[in-house]
Amino acid sequence: MCGIVGYLGNKQAFDILIKGLHRLEYRGYDSAGVALVDNNGNLNVYKTKGKVNNLEQYCKDKNINGTVGIAHTRWATHGEPNDKNAHPHYSQSKNLAIIHNGIIENYLTLKTFLISKGYEFKSDTDTEVVVQFIEYIMQSQKCDLYSAVTHTLTQLVGAYAIGVVERNNPNLLIAARKASPLIVGVGNNEYFLGSDASPIIEYTNKVIYINDEQVVKIERGKEIEIHDLKNVKLQPVINEISLSLDDIEKGGFEHFMLKEIFEQPKSLSLCMNGRLNKELNEIKLSAITDFGDKFDKCQRIVITACGTSWHAGLIGKYLFENLCRIPVEIEVASEFRYRDPVILPNDILIAISQSGETADTLAAMELAKKQGAFVFGICNVIGSSVARMTDTGVYTHAGPEIGVASTKAFTTQVAVLVMTALAVAKRKNSIKDEEYHSIIGELSHIEEKINKIFQQVDHIKDISKIFTYAKNFIYLGRGYNYPVAMEGALKLKEISYIHAEGYPAAEMKHGPIALIDEEMPTVVIAPDNTNHLYQKVLSNVQEVKARKGRIIAIVCEGDDGVAKNADYTIEIPKTVACLSPLLTVIPLQLLSYYIAVAKGRNVDQPRNLAKSVTVE
Ligand code: G6P
Repeated sequence: MCGIVGYLGNKQAFDILIKGLHRLEYRGYDSAGVALVDNNGNLNVYKTKGKVNNLEQYCKDKNINGTVGIAHTRWATHGEPNDKNAHPHYSQSKNLAIIHNGIIENYLTLKTFLISKGYEFKSDTDTEVVVQFIEYIMQSQKCDLYSAVTHTLTQLVGAYAIGVVERNNPNLLIAARKASPLIVGVGNNEYFLGSDASPIIEYTNKVIYINDEQVVKIERGKEIEIHDLKNVKLQPVINEISLSLDDIEKGGFEHFMLKEIFEQPKSLSLCMNGRLNKELNEIKLSAITDFGDKFDKCQRIVITACGTSWHAGLIGKYLFENLCRIPVEIEVASEFRYRDPVILPNDILIAISQSGETADTLAAMELAKKQGAFVFGICNVIGSSVARMTDTGVYTHAGPEIGVASTKAFTTQVAVLVMTALAVAKRKNSIKDEEYHSIIGELSHIEEKINKIFQQVDHIKDISKIFTYAKNFIYLGRGYNYPVAMEGALKLKEISYIHAEGYPAAEMKHGPIALIDEEMPTVVIAPDNTNHLYQKVLSNVQEVKARKGRIIAIVCEGDDGVAKNADYTIEIPKTVACLSPLLTVIPLQLLSYYIAVAKGRNVDQPRNLAKSVTVE
């Protein structure tokens, strides 16, 4: 949610900032802006509604000199997306400019105070209040920018990652964070700011992860300084990251989402690498080797997450209950955090997050941790806030996911949940050796099975074209494929703007069946005709057919039950029930993608959405 970039070095900042904004555009794209300090006493702010391309156009005839600058791509919270609410924001005297990702909850109190002191506001944002307050402190306390920022931050309630620059000071860049991500890239006599590493990686692989309530002072020709809000000096820790430029570029695909769908065999292989031993037919996860006793002792697991990660968590519930016989509760993080939930002794909280920065998930973790739960994280982004807050966990190693609609993050989350449940089940002896080995054997063939589904891409594309007319879709699945039905529906909603609902197939009779007519497509996920639920899904299919509904069925190769009743079928290879989500979700991702493309939607940047939801 909102992307921030900054630069101080020997190069011209503008191109670096714009390129950085393009890389962060997945975080928000309703407006964009840049602030540059040149050596002639100018602090120029340029900002426009719309995407970063608009900003580039707008800046064509402007003075874009400056070797220090900050830039922002916005996902609106306070104030509609327009030019005046776009960041950066000037202070009253136009001596300062700020970019901000997060929400300042007490901004109205501060604004009222500043208005009483004669400050005027040009925007509706909470951010403008921060820069005005910094200026007020500088003037009233006659202090420098760094001290004024630090003081201001002690007055703020809420979340922030900020960058601040000052006219007449082309040698200074200040940044700080609390509960919104911020990374500093360390180059050769140059420093970069980024909401994540993607705007930085082209220039350096050395980064400093800034922690909550830390303020960073970047001064030309000097070592970077980091202080906490009590002004205690902290030692910067430089990490080397292994991200490559290829990982964050489209590589010949039309959209990041398509690239990421097709990357799934590779990302699953990276995810299982070193964890699934094909020769010994076993799973080894260091988190379970080191902390398995927590799972031995626990009476209950609570899973929390948002969006697609929550769907993966629902599959986790089935896995831990089936394989480990541990009761599992699952709840979306935004509900969990405000529900005053009961945390029992020895509870394990599993938090799942692709970005590792989702505000609600972080708050849920914090609450559970405070109440004594052991916090286990499943996360994609190395060094992210979730990763840093957990007691232990497992990275998904999916590689950067840039398309707003999550695809490879989901399948790798499911793979991690499968591996974790298997490792726990093995040590608890709650799984028979035969089943343990059969699941591992199947898991080791999952990549080739996904590749087989990709052979049907043209068939899926053809089906997609037929259904662009639809205003509504229903997705039905049972057992492990009920969460997949919800995920398929979410994918379609997110990128095509067609209304879609995922239901447990049998629940259809309790309401949604009223919607079925010849216009209404139903996607049925029934991959295993040997499964005890298969006959039941077949009955649901017949109920839809009897009402002239149109059916797209995801079935196993050679299926002759559900397939016979369906208008269109997509076949997937057979696998064991608990791994079927890894296969059934693939055609649903492709179906959504091609429907959205046929409808001319912006697949990678769908309206109103953001990849990383760092605000409540
Ligand atoms: C946003 C994204 C979704 C994602 C959800 C949770 O809504 O658009 O794709 O599933 O946040 O994000 P997380 O990074 O915590 O998995």
